[in-house]
Amino acid sequence: MGIQPAIFAHTHYTGVLRPPAEAESLPSWAYTDAEFLERERERLFRAHWLCIGREDQVARPGDYMTREIAGASLIVVRGRDGAVRAFHNACRHRGARLLEGEGSCKAISCPYHAWVYGLDGMLVGAPDTEATIGFEKSAHFLAPARLESWAGFLFVNLDGRAKPLTEHLGDCPAFHAPWSLQDMVVTRRNVFEVECNWKLFIDVFMEYYHLNVVHPSSIAAAYGPADPMERVRGDWITVFGLNGSSALLLQDSARAAALPAVPGLSGRSAKGTRYSLIYPNMPFACTTESMWFFEIDPLAPGRTRIGMNMCFPRSTAALEDFAEMAQACYLRWKVAIAEDNTVLERQQRGLASPLVRRGRFSHLEEVVPRFGAWVAERVCDPA
Ligand code: FES
Ligand SMILES: [Fe+2]
Repeated sequence: MGIQPAIFAHTHYTGVLRPPAEAESLPSWAYTDAEFLERERERLFRAHWLCIGREDQVARPGDYMTREIAGASLIVVRGRDGAVRAFHNACRHRGARLLEGEGSCKAISCPYHAWVYGLDGMLVGAPDTEATIGFEKSAHFLAPARLESWAGFLFVNLDGRAKPLTEHLGDCPAFHAPWSLQDMVVTRRNVFEVECNWKLFIDVFMEYYHLNVVHPSSIAAAYGPADPMERVRGDWITVFGLNGSSALLLQDSARAAALPAVPGLSGRSAKGTRYSLIYPNMPFACTTESMWFFEIDPLAPGRTRIGMNMCFPRSTAALEDFAEMAQACYLRWKVAIAEDNTVLERQQRGLASPLVRRGRFSHLEEVVPRFGAWVAERVCDPA
């Protein structure tokens, strides 16, 4: 064992681990320090389930997509047998990256020396290897990544040691059953980078406290007050609140209610939005017409890549004028995310100051200290 840096000493985190109304924020180095991020990658990202997209994004046999997450590059591909699999995106010959982006293929061929793999990862072609002694193609299949799914979401576990996905999720599926997420499809995916720590992006997505200040004329009116946070089982948290106007549209949009509600929604679920975070890095929101989810990948302590996915019920996406009607929803997100990102980049710059001190929390942002405590519990050294 090497020397443990002092930044992980338990004494720095006792205030973070208190109940939300008594808690203080994580130390500033949790947002700026490379060593801290490396430990988060190891203990939070590689050790847990990471959402890397949805089954409907690889709908037919041969469809594939690639994802970068926590330093790993992965291929997600649907096989001829209909099963979706994930592989490390590196050739078993001399390591070249095999695929980029997304598309459809009959087999996976390496761009360097043309080794060819089936959609199940087996090596089926390795030119001019007859003279290679003891070389068995069957021993050189693509390295699989552990993959499980829930409601159409695909999750990978990079270190192979996470508990089963169902245990990780706990009662998350029951809380989200009203939205029939298995019947949704991704209609748009954007990837962008923000100059802030990955946790700050999750905080701003989940909390209500900033709405009137950061989004006064765009989306603040869409949200009523949030309910007190519900107690949940599993590695996730959630906040539900009734909508003011549609959470899907800019508040001055004339096209409110143009898109149909999620089929089968009823009761309070039909009048509000549920914001949830599946630890460590999958914030998502279910509202009356749609769902959106994020893949959050820390590139550096102060830089984060975000995959943003807008989803609608399959029946909505099949409407003749869907593409046109969806533009208003996409615009709402473009505007709100730009407003959030501006303030996040200022927050990151502030946190980089050596004079920064710990903060305390409003009850309107209870998710933030809860998320902070989940991180601290796993990252800091034992007491
Ligand atoms: S590195 Fe892939 S075939 Fe050589
Ligand atoms: Fe926001």
